[in-house]
Amino acid sequence: MKVLKIGGSILEKFLEDDNLHSVIEQFDGELSIVHGGGNYLDNHAENFNYTKKFVTSPEGIRSRYTDRNTLEIFTMVMNLINQKLVLNLKEHGIKAITVNGIISAKRKEKLVIMNEKNRKMIIDGGYTGKVEGVDPIPIKAVIDAGYIPVISPIAYGNGSYLNVDADRAAAYVAGALKADSLVFLTNVNGLYYQNNIIEKADTTYIRSILKDIGTGMDKKLMASIEALEMGVKQVIISNPFYDIYSGTVICNEL
Ligand SMILES: Nc1ncnc2c1ncn2[C@@H]1O[C@H](COP(=O)(O)OP(=O)(O)OP(=O)(O)O)[C@@H](O)[C@H]1O
Ligand SMILES: [Mg+2]
Repeated sequence: MKVLKIGGSILEKFLEDDNLHSVIEQFDGELSIVHGGGNYLDNHAENFNYTKKFVTSPEGIRSRYTDRNTLEIFTMVMNLINQKLVLNLKEHGIKAITVNGIISAKRKEKLVIMNEKNRKMIIDGGYTGKVEGVDPIPIKAVIDAGYIPVISPIAYGNGSYLNVDADRAAAYVAGALKADSLVFLTNVNGLYYQNNIIEKADTTYIRSILKDIGTGMDKKLMASIEALEMGVKQVIISNPFYDIYSGTVICNEL
C-alpha cells in the first residue's frame, strides 16, 4: 500500500497537462492520494477575495494563518481541487472517489509567532489544526472496492472543520493504513543539502540537518519522521516531472 501526497506546487501542472493518470499508472499496488493546494489558493487569490496571511514560528517555520474567512475559502478551494483530481482520474478510466471526514485534529488555541520586530508574540490560533488521527476504515473500504481514495487536508475537531498541513495529513493517512511507502510528489527532485541531493537518509540524519532546511521541505521532513514513527517503512520525496524513481528515500534505519 502506497500513499501519494500530491503537492500544491505541482497540482496545476498535473491538471493543465492532463498527465496525472500517467504518473499514477507508474505506481503498482493499492494507492491512496492526499493532496495539498495552498499554492492554488495563493495563485487564484483574487478569484476568492482572499488576502494571503502567513505567520512565522520561533523555529522559523512559515505557515498560513487561517482566520474564519480564510478557513471557508480554503475549504472551498480544497474541495474544488479534490473534485478536479477525481474527475481527471475518472476521465482516464481510473476509479477514484473523494473520502472526507476521516481526519481528526485539535485546534491550536494559541500560536506563538515572531512579529515584525522579531519578537515572540502570542496570537489566537485561528482555524488551524494539529492532526491527531485518521480513521482508516472508510479508506480501506473504498480501496477494497477498487477505488483510489482522494483525500483533502481538511480535518474535524473542536466543533469545526480545520485547515491542516497536507504533508502531516498524508503522514497520518499512511500511518493509519500501515502503508509501506509514503511518496511526496513535489516540485524539487528531492532533499537538497549543501548543494547535493540526498539519495538515502535515516531519521537521525534528517533530524540533525532539519534546522538548515528551508520552508516547504522542512514540513515534509517533519511529516516524514512522524510517518516513519507510525510504522511506515519508507518515505520518498520525488519530482514526478523528473523521475519518480529517483529522489530522496528516508527510512528509520539504513
Ligand atoms: N533543502 C531543500 N531541499 C529541497 N527543497 C527545499 C529545501 N529547502 C526548501 N525547499 C523548498 O521546498 C519546496 C517544496 O515544498 P512546498 O511546500 O513548496 O511544495 P509542496 O509541499 O509540493 O506543495 P504544498 O505545500 O502546496 O502541498 C521546494 O520547491 C523548495 O523550494
Ligand atoms: Mg508543502
